[in-house]
Formats: sequence, structure tokens, C-alpha cells
Amino acid sequence: MCGIIGIIGNSDVAPRLLESLRRLEYRGYDSAGIAVQTGHGPERRRAEGKIRNLEAVIDEQPLPGVVGIGHTRWATHGAPSVRNAHPHHYGKVTLVHNGIIENFAELKAELKAKGQVFESDTDTEVIAHLLNDALEGGQPLKDAFKRVLDRLHGAYALAILVEGEENTILGARRGSPLVIGWGENDEMFLGSDALAVGPFTQRVTYLEEGDWVILSRGGAQTFDAQGFLVNRPVTTVSASAALVEKGSYRHFMEKEVHEQPDSCQRTLSAYLDPVAGEVRADIKAALDFSQIVRIQIIACGTAYYAGSVARYAFEKLAGLPVDVEVASEFRYRSPAMMPGTLAVAVSQSGETADTLAALRWCKDEGLKTAAVVNVHSSTMAREADLMWPTHAGPEIGVASTKAFTAQLSALLCLAVCAARQRGRITAHEEAHLVQVLLESPGLISQALGMDADIVRITHKLSKARDVIYLGRGDMYPLALEGALKLKEISYIHAEGYAAGELKHGPIALIDENTPVVVIAPDDALFEKTASNVQEVAARGGRVIMITDTPEKVPALSEDAARTLTVVKAPACDPFIAPLVYSVPIQLLAYHTAVHKGTDVDQPRNLAKSVTVE
Ligand code: F6R
Repeated sequence: MCGIIGIIGNSDVAPRLLESLRRLEYRGYDSAGIAVQTGHGPERRRAEGKIRNLEAVIDEQPLPGVVGIGHTRWATHGAPSVRNAHPHHYGKVTLVHNGIIENFAELKAELKAKGQVFESDTDTEVIAHLLNDALEGGQPLKDAFKRVLDRLHGAYALAILVEGEENTILGARRGSPLVIGWGENDEMFLGSDALAVGPFTQRVTYLEEGDWVILSRGGAQTFDAQGFLVNRPVTTVSASAALVEKGSYRHFMEKEVHEQPDSCQRTLSAYLDPVAGEVRADIKAALDFSQIVRIQIIACGTAYYAGSVARYAFEKLAGLPVDVEVASEFRYRSPAMMPGTLAVAVSQSGETADTLAALRWCKDEGLKTAAVVNVHSSTMAREADLMWPTHAGPEIGVASTKAFTAQLSALLCLAVCAARQRGRITAHEEAHLVQVLLESPGLISQALGMDADIVRITHKLSKARDVIYLGRGDMYPLALEGALKLKEISYIHAEGYAAGELKHGPIALIDENTPVVVIAPDDALFEKTASNVQEVAARGGRVIMITDTPEKVPALSEDAARTLTVVKAPACDPFIAPLVYSVPIQLLAYHTAVHKGTDVDQPRNLAKSVTVE
């Protein structure tokens, strides 16, 4: 989603605004712009497409000045174009916005009736008009800003420059996060996340829901939604959160795939006590799963698939019924919830609008809530009764990889915790499962060694128009995740199916042009999945089988065998197979996209943190 940066600096800010916008590229965007206080009011430069286009515009028409704001736009209202790019401007006001103003049409009609002319199709522009009107009406800046915020429905993070207020930036958040950055020598920053201000400072203040701020040189006055002055703490974010580089990798996604032994290790360490051979005491103390009658997991996209994998573990190990639903459906379905249900939101960003709304709905229903989140300062982390952190570190590639396996790591540990607390496993069995989980970083590392084998097959795969993924048991949600990963970064149409569903319809799609990726670890369902391979091969389908047990793959006729490619995965306990097999499916999507030459880290139309519905 849109990225925001604001700087009150001691030297020309345009280069630093651009540097920050480059850090925000990972969020997904289609145009960018900056505005700088030039001494005679804020002036703007905007461009469609990549930041380099904006740089070219600024090279031609430099923008000197020490106070400015910048924005990467992910289009919601109005096509990606210079006209719709932020900053938007009216009268004395120039601003950038992340979110959606839901009552913009009504506000726009009111402003148009007064004869005001709009230059863009965006919802954002109404805010500039409203604030300018309030200021023209003679209201002091603070009152005018509060009054405008009170009129806005929907979600926003805002950074605003006002003509005549040369050393001030106004900021506000509702629904979309915003942080204040505290720099050296009285420099101040405003950013849509800690990464935005990361190149300049690690000291940040996370604004709370409804907060708004008047940023000045050396300080900030922060107010809550009611307009009371509040004091929000300053925290120091880790250098890794503040500055993330690609290093020697071609893409952030590649780097993040390769970071998974570490990110899983970090996450497992937060949940497991390797010495005692059990789930950590603090995790056990935080929630007694024996008091929970049912779990409702709510999430979107890849996080939803992590929840879907976890369902198998919670039900099988802990005998705990689990429902998993995409948050955008759940929130509007008026679901009937049973008392004693634990609602679990799973989210990398902790800001996804639908997941957050679903979590809030569960809270309002009086359910106990938990959030499995990677951004520990996020809104979900703060609003849920219980935060279960993942430790993937900042994920920059739009396609989620290490956040997914960190979510799986945390959820599998919690399933063990639940099983033990519910008396479904003995201490000895718990110790065994803890041991198995602790082996996963090493096995993930081995799975990364499949890279060369996978590169070999992706050349052909990149020519496909459609790809089918098959899996059984907890490999079924992994098949869905594999298909999602492939389509989002390579733009190849892909579908995941439960392998047993194949003959109920999808088998009609099988022909020599439709590769079928089969995820088949050596588990209780292996033989059944292998039969499905036979069915595909018998119809001339090309099968890519990812398995740790190639020797068990049934003998195929000579013709059929020619269409089968087996990719050998490391042998592992079936409990952690979702973690280990995540790696080859990520690599498959990654190398296919690289072959196709798509924009791996910023696939078209996608945004990293989806803070709009
Ligand atoms: C896919 C992907 C998305 C996210 C989804 C939820 O690779 O990244 O499907 O998983 O938008 O995002 P979070 O986890 O931030 O709630």
C-alpha cells in the first residue's frame, strides 16, 4: 500500500525523500511524488511508474528546501497517473495520504457545490480542500486540522504541508499506521513505518489509532482522537528493522527465502525451551488451551494458508476443532460464534484491513483474541488480547516467504502446547515434537540446496500458461500457497487442488501443456497421492513431483515416465513437512518468475500491506 515520508531537516530534503521512497518501494506502488516547502509555499514533483521517473523529473526541475513530504501511491480511486499521484494540493494545503476516505463522494459534492474545482479522481483531494477551507475561515491550524479529521470516515495516514507554516508537518493516523522519527540536531521525521524513517533514525514513536500530530523542528505535539494532548513512548527499533538491504541477492524475495533457517530458528526459540524439551513456560502461562473449545483462524492470502496448515496440527495433535476463514468473508458473514472460541488473526504486517476488522468483530463479540504477527508494534499486536510474535524480521518482497514459514513455526509450536495442555500428549511426546521442530531450520537449510534442481525445471515451467498444484492433508494448503506464489510473481495462471479432488473435475484440465506440481512427502497419504500421479501421467500430463522418497514413486509406463520429473526433498518428520516443503515451492515460483523476467519483488498490481478493503 501507499508509503509516506515527511522530513523537517537541516539540509535539502529532496534527496532524502527519494531515498526513503526507495525503501518503501516494497509496499507496491504505481506512481510517486514529493512536495517541499520552498519559501513561497510547498511545490510538488510527481511521476507515474517507478521512483526513477520521479528522480528524472526532479533532476530537470530541482526542488530546494529543508522541509518536505513524499509518497508512493498504490491506486485505489483513479488510475495510476501524474494527475492522481500524491501530493495533492489545494490552496494553502499540500498532502499525502494512505488509506481510503469512504465518505469522499459526499464531501466532494459538498465542496463542488461551493464552486471548488478538483484536479484528480482521488478520494484524497477532498482533505486538502476541507483543510484549506477551515484555514481560510480563520481557524488556528490545530483546530482546523482536528475539525477536518472529525469529518473523515474511513482509513488514513496523512502527512501535510501548509503554506506559511514552513517548519511544520501535520500527521494523523486512523486505520493506517504512522510513526514519528526523532533525528539528530532537531531533525524530525514522519513515516508510514519504521523502514521509511530507517535511513535517518532508529528512534521512533508509533502513533496510536486516532492519534494526530503537529510535527515541528525538534519536537512533536501528539493528540488523541478526542483532541487531548498525549505522550506516546519513544522506542528504539533494531538496526535490521530500520535498514534492510538486498546484499548480494538479486531480489529481496531470494534473500528472504534464504533467510528462512534463521527466521524459523528465531521464531522457534521464542516458543520452545530446547533444554527442558518443552514449550516455553511463558507461552504456556499466557493461555491455557484446555479452556478453549474451538479456534477460529482469520487471515488473508498467504497468512490464511499458514492458518489452514495449522488447522491440521491443532486438530490432529490437540483434538481442538479449528475453523479457518479468509477475513474478508468472515467479517461480513455474521458468523455464529461459540462461547469459548479463541479467535486467532494471522498476519505478517498486523495491519491488513480485513483481518483487523475481523479481529475487532471477534473482540466485540466478547471472544478471547490472539494475533500471530510479524510486526510486533502493529495494530493487531496491540489490539489482540494475546500477541504471538513471529520473528521473520522485516519482509520486503511483496510475495510472503519467510513470514509464512515463521507463522507455520509459531503455530506448530502452539499446537504442541495445546496438545500438552489438553492432555493429548505426554511429556515424552512433547519432548519428541519439540526436538522435531528444532530440526526444521537445518532441514530448511538442506531444502535450499534443491535450488539447482529447481532452476533446471523452471525454464520449461516458465513457458506454461496454466499450472496445477496438488497435495493431500497439510500439503493441500501448501499446494494452494504454491499456486498463489507462482501466479503472483510469474503471472502464470495456477490453481491448487486437494489431490483427491482431481477426478471430481480438475482432471479435465490435464494435458501435455499443463504441468502438475505434486507435493508428496513420505507420510501416511503418500501412496494415495502417488495414485493421483499415475492418473495424471496416464493422461499425458507433465508431473513435477516434489518428494523425499523418489524410490517409492510407482513405476510408470515408459511414455508416462518421460513426463515425470522428480525433485528430491530432504527427508523429514511429517509434522514439519509443511516447513520444509515451503522452500521448494517458493524456489519454484521464484526461478520461474526470474526466467520470465517479471518484477519479482514488486509484482504488478500488488501491495505489501493491504490496509484497504
Ligand atoms: C502473498 C502475500 C499476501 C499476504 C496477505 C496478508 O504472497 O503476501 O497474500 O499474505 O496480503 O498479509 P498480512 O500477512 O500482512 O496480513
